[in-house]
Amino acid sequence: ETVEWEAASFDMGGHDTYMHKEISEQPDAVDRVLRGRIDDRFSTVHLGGLNLDPREARTIRRIKILGCGTSYHAGLIGAGLIESMARIPADAEPASEFRYRNPVVDPDTLYIAVSQSGETYDVLAAVQELKRKGARVLGVVNVVGSAIAREADGGVYVHAGPEVCVVSTKCFTNTVVAFALLALHLGRIRDLSVTDGKRIIEGLRKLPEQIGEILQNEDEIKKLAEEYAGAQSMMFIGRVRGYPVALEASLKLKEISYIHAEAYPASELKHGPLALIEPALPTVAIVPDDDLLEKNRAALEEIKARSGRILAVAHQPQEKADHTIVVPKNEDELDAILMGIPLQLFAYHTALAMGRDIDKPRNLAKSVTVE
Ligand code: G6P
Repeated sequence: ETVEWEAASFDMGGHDTYMHKEISEQPDAVDRVLRGRIDDRFSTVHLGGLNLDPREARTIRRIKILGCGTSYHAGLIGAGLIESMARIPADAEPASEFRYRNPVVDPDTLYIAVSQSGETYDVLAAVQELKRKGARVLGVVNVVGSAIAREADGGVYVHAGPEVCVVSTKCFTNTVVAFALLALHLGRIRDLSVTDGKRIIEGLRKLPEQIGEILQNEDEIKKLAEEYAGAQSMMFIGRVRGYPVALEASLKLKEISYIHAEAYPASELKHGPLALIEPALPTVAIVPDDDLLEKNRAALEEIKARSGRILAVAHQPQEKADHTIVVPKNEDELDAILMGIPLQLFAYHTALAMGRDIDKPRNLAKSVTVE
């Protein structure tokens, strides 16, 4: 059973699909999630609905993030942001898995439920089970007043605006930005310095314009997508911050083009997937210009040595790659937000070239409100 949005009530604004409209809206959407929240005086952010005072925030010893599908992937990036900025051990898990393994609920753990719709049953059920056991649960939710938002003790609204396409794009990006705000907030209550706070804020402020720059390369990305659209299967790799980007990009491609895709940490290539590499299996590699650049380049070399085709998403052209989509550099912590954007367009144009029903992929629903 599914909940249908009343798509007809939303204007497509001159775009051929909602997905294209929603991808294009991202500079404004990110602007909205930031608006009114940045506090330059203390290099932090205000999150009005969090319901977590600084003293309580200092007692958190772990953070566990729960979500499904794209929201789970946003949660994985969120966990990384929280660990790096707030130095609180954090991880993300599919809400459905969490529910059914009778998890140990720890009073010093803060639980965060992530959901675009705020109605996904597996996430809601996990929240209810956690609350019944006395846990503190926050929501990172897009739809205001939704079931998960109401059930949570507090949270951060994502303010992406209505998302109609079954697959999530602008809401994914905004959710990750919301996590960056939460990470900055928690970090500044704990050990993140004023200088680092300032640096992250400057990075956040650059995002809308940089996303705009990426979107301007649509023609180039379209050409690449048309070139790769014949593939039967694709590999996506990334390392640490880049790995959830690879996971989400591969999910997007699967969902709307029906091309089989899988994501691997680049470091795991040699433990199995390298056996698959041949010219017919292209690899999309996330290659940020950060302290792992050389490691990522080594992975490209391993793939090239086996005649694999490579499309890199990077901050500068990659010699070993057949093609590179160059994206603007931000702060290391925030690069993942930008690196996912061209791959939304890549999935979109691949699916378009294959004549798929992009806004309503087969077998999928926007919200899954039953078990
Ligand atoms: C469905 C959608 C996905 C979405 C997931 C979680 O499976 O097809 O695109 O990521 O639900 O939805 P939520 O509303 O909880 O973020």
